[in-house]
Parts: sequence; structure tokens; C-alpha cells
Amino acid sequence: MADEMILTRPDDWHLHLRDGAMLAVTVPCSARSFGRAIIMPNLNPPITTVQQALAYRARILRHVPAQSAFEPLMTLYLTEATSGREIERAGAASAIAAVKLYPANATTHSEAGVSDWRRCDEALACMQEQGLPLLIHGEAITPGIDIFDREAVFLERELEPLIQRFPQLKVVLEHVTTAAAVEFVRQAPPRLAATITAHHLLLNRNDLLLGGLRPHHYCLPILKRERDRQALLAAASSGSPKYFLGTDSAPHARSSKESACGCAGIYTAPAALELYAEAFEQAGSLNRLEGFASHFGADFYALPRNTTAVRLRRESWSLPASYRYGRGAIVPLRAASPLQWRLIT
Ligand code: NCD
Ligand code: ZN
Repeated sequence: MADEMILTRPDDWHLHLRDGAMLAVTVPCSARSFGRAIIMPNLNPPITTVQQALAYRARILRHVPAQSAFEPLMTLYLTEATSGREIERAGAASAIAAVKLYPANATTHSEAGVSDWRRCDEALACMQEQGLPLLIHGEAITPGIDIFDREAVFLERELEPLIQRFPQLKVVLEHVTTAAAVEFVRQAPPRLAATITAHHLLLNRNDLLLGGLRPHHYCLPILKRERDRQALLAAASSGSPKYFLGTDSAPHARSSKESACGCAGIYTAPAALELYAEAFEQAGSLNRLEGFASHFGADFYALPRNTTAVRLRRESWSLPASYRYGRGAIVPLRAASPLQWRLIT
């Protein structure tokens, strides 16, 4: 088995950087590995206009290390009030790459999200015309649906009708977590793709609940069964261009995670590529990592592939127990425990 790999520099097609003091930690951590990243707009208040997205981008760029060419690709947060004109402005702004749909109250800072999709028809039609991809948090939020079934129900009730009503719209089903979602994406036309996180490739719901409650393994969509994890591993390492890397790295203050009502989100960015390498090695498909991490996302977004490279070496090393920012700390996945691969910078 190879002990060193050189890959085209990867991109992260789903990333939460947050704002303010956290940016001093999150931006350099992602810039270390990734050439570009799709930046999620679920700030509080959300990024709903092009003007807000460009101002947020400028705040991010201040924290990009001098020797890095890290490029944040901005997104707008779709609400029922998003106008066709705002989407046209987004389509014309090269710094804006996509629009994000959160079902209302599905996850962190999704209160301003969408309850009734038909109220978004004008915006969606405009996105279809502009070729702006719609990024979807795919969970049904009707009260009473079991949290472990939310993704599967969403596919049938919401996603299937949507892709039929907008036959040219490019859609990314974000952070797929189930065998059902893998199958849905496989059967869908090529204009529908999916991102897969490192944590959903490496962990199942036992890692959340067995032997004690692990708040740092709590995220949405929630971790699923082992057979779902196996289906995700098979999809990610299949060589199909419909699946590509999106960490959904989602930092929260340690105090908000280790709490009686803990926040959803796992901070994977500091060792993201290394975690994916572990997962692909588990699947016996390290040779398929580059397509998933560095080619298929750029191809889907019709952007050029990166021209620089990164080197991964088999090496045991550890992340710190936490990262300090302002007055808080963020605990990364695998804090202070050994990783098997290391990105050499
Ligand atoms: C994300 C966050 O914290 O912003 N949390 C998560 O568990 N993934 C929101 C999201 O992407 O669902
Ligand atoms: Zn997310």
C-alpha cells in the first residue's frame, strides 16, 4: 500500500466558516488543504442578498494566510421572500456560486428557511435560467417524522417533485447520509449530485450513543446505521462523478456542544482530507480519492480543476484538544487522538 500520495488540490463543496472571531481559526484551517470552498450562508441573521454575501466574503478573505490562494465561493440563503431580481444579481456576480435551501427549522440557523416551496417558484425558475445550482439540506421537517427517517421522507415528498417541476435546475443534495439517498442520486439525471461528509463515512449512530452520549458526534442530518455508512463509502469510492467532497465542517463553541441541549455540527476541517483518506483506505479505494476530492465537484460546478497539488503521507499525528478563538474554544473531530494520514504543506 502506498505511503505517499500526490493529489490535485481538493475543494470543499460545503463548509461553515461562521463569522467574527471564529474566522481566525476556521479560515486558515480550511485554506491549509482546500483550494476553494462553498461557504454556507446560515449566519445569524442569514446571508440573503448579494451585497451581504460580498461583505461576508471580504471578512473571510482578511483571514486567508498570505501564501494561500484559498477562494471562498459564496452562497445565498433562500427564503420565501427571495426575489427573481436578487437571483439575477447573484447569477451576475462571479463570487456567488450557488443558493442554499434549508427547510425551515431543520437545523442550525434555519428559522428563516423555506416552509412552502411553491413560494420560491420565481427564485427557482430564475436559478434554473441562470444555471445557479440549488444546494439542499434534504430533511423533511413535518412534526412527527422520526429523526432517522427525515432524509428518506424528504426524497420522496419534496425532492422528486422539485426536480420534475424544474427539469433543468442543477441540484446538489447536501451531506447524504442514507442508502436511500445514494440510490436516489444514482437513479437521478446527471444534473443532480450529492456531497458526502467525512464524518458520515467514518461514523455510525453507535458512535453517537453507545457507551455514553458523545455531543461532538452530534450533527444534522444525524448519523445513521452501519449499513447506511457502508452505502456511503461504496458511493464515494465508486468513481461516479455524482458524489463529491463536502465536509459540512460546522464548528460550535465547546460550551454549546457540551450542554444539556447541544448544538448540531462537527468540526472536521482541521484534518478533513486526512479523514477522507482514512475512509477511502477502509473501502480499499485510495486511488479513487482524487476524483471525489479534487475533480468531480469542480466539474459539476463547471469550474476549472485546481492546478496545484497536495501531498498526503502515511504518518501518525494528532490535532490539538481544542482551538481557542476569542473567549471560546472549538473541539475538532478526533481531538488529541491519532490520525493515520497527514497532509504535508
Ligand atoms: C450545521 C451548522 O451548525 O451550521 N450543522 C450540522 O449539524 N451540520 C447546519 C447544517 O448544515 O445542517
Ligand atoms: Zn452544513
